[in-house]
Amino acid sequence: MPPALIALLSREQLPEGKPHLLLHPPDHLVVVRLGDEVFALDQRCSHAGASLINGAILGRSLACRAHGCRFDLASGLLLGPSDEPLRQRTWLVERRGDAWAILDQPLPTSPSPEPPP
Ligand code: FES
Repeated sequence: MPPALIALLSREQLPEGKPHLLLHPPDHLVVVRLGDEVFALDQRCSHAGASLINGAILGRSLACRAHGCRFDLASGLLLGPSDEPLRQRTWLVERRGDAWAILDQPLPTSPSPEPPP
């Protein structure tokens, strides 16, 4: 059975580089568009639970304003500054025409390595 649709979001709903709150109880998601790529992560920071909706986009990462943890948008892996084994859960996103479907399917916690180009 395919994962359920949480939301279908247009480019206009996702301003470039601005975190967007997507209601998905109980935890809610934060969605970020960079160009033609869209990423969805848990909205509550896995460090101490602050909201990432006001997080800062730094390259392809999202930085929590509470204590500065920076998470890779694609994998959710912690990039620093803490060395705790933190990971922000990420969710499946599919392109559908001019919009992006955010699907009710968390991605695996151990992303497979990228295949060689
Ligand atoms: S709650 Fe996000 S870095 Fe601490």
